[in-house]
Amino acid sequence: MRILTTGGTGFIGSHTTVELQNAGFDVVIADNLSNSNEQVLDRIEKITGKRPAFIKADLSCPKECKQVFDTYKDIEGVINFAAYKAVGESVEKPIMYYQNNLGIFLNLVENMKNNGVKYFVQSSSCTVYGEPDSLPIKETSPVKKATSPYGHTKQIVEEMLSFITASTDIKAIALRYFNPIGAHESALIGELPNGVPNNLLPFVTQTAAGIRKELKVFGNDYPTPDGTCIRDYIHVVDLAKAHVVAVKRLLENKNKENLEFFNIGTGKGFSVLEIINSFEKTTGVKLPWSFAPRREGDIIQIWADTKYAEEELGWKAQETLDTMTLSSWKWQQALDK
Ligand code: WQD
Repeated sequence: MRILTTGGTGFIGSHTTVELQNAGFDVVIADNLSNSNEQVLDRIEKITGKRPAFIKADLSCPKECKQVFDTYKDIEGVINFAAYKAVGESVEKPIMYYQNNLGIFLNLVENMKNNGVKYFVQSSSCTVYGEPDSLPIKETSPVKKATSPYGHTKQIVEEMLSFITASTDIKAIALRYFNPIGAHESALIGELPNGVPNNLLPFVTQTAAGIRKELKVFGNDYPTPDGTCIRDYIHVVDLAKAHVVAVKRLLENKNKENLEFFNIGTGKGFSVLEIINSFEKTTGVKLPWSFAPRREGDIIQIWADTKYAEEELGWKAQETLDTMTLSSWKWQQALDK
């Protein structure tokens, strides 16, 4: 049973490849290494005792995407992580984002259709909900008008999947991630952003490591208990495990619709200051930080209603905030060695 993980050397893709191999699947990773490197394959082998197959490919190129399916005839399912994902960059370079993220998706489903590959798990995002009208947010909550080309590509792929799964043999599950953080307990794989991190946790760990001078907390005057934004932070290993559950659901034909959506979060929201407190408590490292103006485009607060994923998928996040912040620090320390 071989699963293709596109973008499988990335942060979430590598953790999912580990959990797929732990669950007995064969995996082939297709990745253009634009935001990762091949050393991740050694790390995955070290963790699981098995080296995933790998093919370097720019999947937005029809020829290179076809090459993957011509080379691996035993692919039963596809988990699609491959996409550009920096919100700010997407606003500056919308055409690059639409071409890449939508091009990859369309090439994949085209090749799946041509090769009789029927099962597709899409990496989607809670970004599709925008600023929630009520919390916790359910899968049936309205999808709001996108506030960035990045978030827009997530919405468009979901909409295209609804038509594609209605008129082809392809069946799909879109997993709407909340905020993935943390790292595998081995500290062999983790988040490795190129350049200055956009996301909170890598900036926190790089500041704690002395790579960044000080963490800026974007805004302290939000209508939240401590004035800082609230997010549903989920351990990347919990998120990875949700992908194994989702692909098994499709392979075993347990899906109840051609296309299903699941919120993959913990159901609990934490503020930026609570993240800092947890990090300082679990690591014993004092974090230099100060307040800065709000960041353009940030929503105030969002956290998931996880009931549907628990009932339908039988999946529930297990890790605590403290294991998330501590594992991200252990990964940063391993990186610095
Ligand atoms: C979290 C909170 C910031 C950095 C984005 C995308 C989402 C997904 C994850 C890709 C916010 C605050 C951050 C900093 C800060 N993208 N912050 N100082 O914006 O919720 O989600 O990344 O997979 O689709 O939208 O995550 O980690 O950037 O920010 O105060 O240096 O931390 O204002 O409140 P976000 P984030």
